[in-house]
Amino acid sequence: MGKNILVTGGAGFIGSHLCEALLGEEHRIVIIDNFCSGHRRNVSLLEDRITLIDGDIRVIAEHHTRIGPIDTIIHLAAMISGYDSLSSPDEYNDVNIRGLLRVIEFAAAQKVRRIVFASSSTVYGNQSGTDLSELVLPKPLTVYALTKLAGEHLLDLYGRIHGFSHCSLRLFNVYGPRQATDHPYANVTCKFSHSTAHRLPVCLYGDGEQSRDFVYVHDVVRAFLAVLEGSEQTIYNVGTSKARTINDLLVALAEIGGAPLETIALPPWVNDIRSIRANISRFTAEFGFSPVVALEQGLADTVAYFREHPEA
Ligand SMILES: NC(=O)c1ccc[n+]([C@@H]2O[C@H](COP(=O)([O-])OP(=O)(O)OC[C@H]3O[C@@H](n4cnc5c(N)ncnc54)[C@H](O)[C@@H]3O)[C@@H](O)[C@H]2O)c1
Repeated sequence: MGKNILVTGGAGFIGSHLCEALLGEEHRIVIIDNFCSGHRRNVSLLEDRITLIDGDIRVIAEHHTRIGPIDTIIHLAAMISGYDSLSSPDEYNDVNIRGLLRVIEFAAAQKVRRIVFASSSTVYGNQSGTDLSELVLPKPLTVYALTKLAGEHLLDLYGRIHGFSHCSLRLFNVYGPRQATDHPYANVTCKFSHSTAHRLPVCLYGDGEQSRDFVYVHDVVRAFLAVLEGSEQTIYNVGTSKARTINDLLVALAEIGGAPLETIALPPWVNDIRSIRANISRFTAEFGFSPVVALEQGLADTVAYFREHPEA
């Protein structure tokens, strides 16, 4: 049966794909988003089937009448740049921690049954070369990552006090259509796909042999849907369990674009993570989950999106 689901940050990249999928499963959807990095155009095709609130999670209680009864909250709203968070720690603390506290209080007051939280693989910090399971000790290197780890613990603490269930998905490098290119630290997949679509040069930091676990947004959406009803554990990695290098991206995009991308060689980033890959066996064992979108297919779809949406 359809549920009443509140998606914070639902007009963002991941949120807009998730809301499309939730609507397909007959749920009633309420989005609260202040459009600080999300866009109304991301959800324009859904607007007549959802309640879209232009509001800030830090004052979510002010919107309780429009929000109405809610069974489950999917909490995606956040400031999302690890790099920026080091120079704006107060702002990250304010939105990602104080904002989550307001969402938790709202959930308690409205007797919400479950909260699903978008956490991040960045909680692991720079533990290169390992296949990261949920049992690896987190070592956040940015304030952003720290707020995500704190969020997991806040849900644990208040879940026990208020009686709601919860689950945190540690997302690895998510990519796909609608990821914002205007962000100075946009995901490399996003920048490279955009450049492929518009035949622009890209910056290559270091030797290109750094690797990441790139997971397509539709697989991430499937992961959120899997944990909606409940879960045995409260923390899961969501990735592909495959490490692909930046050079792999360039090869795949040369094929998609019909010509190699022009690269501007730059020195490696200080403290750049060399190699990171998710161990997803916990998620696979419980939910039978495995990602289905191959990197080459996901990149082709992302390039096609940027070709069709020159404004993005
Ligand atoms: N994209 C990734 O690779 C990735 C990886 C790990 C975790 N995550 C997490 O997933 C979530 C969604 O990320 P995304 O990539 O879709 O980014 P996004 O920036 O597109 O989405 C975040 C949304 O939250 C909204 N928002 C921010 N502050 C708000 C506030 N105070 N009140 C209301 N709305 C607010 C933004 O406008 C935006 O629509 C975030 O919590 C992010 O930390 C993303």
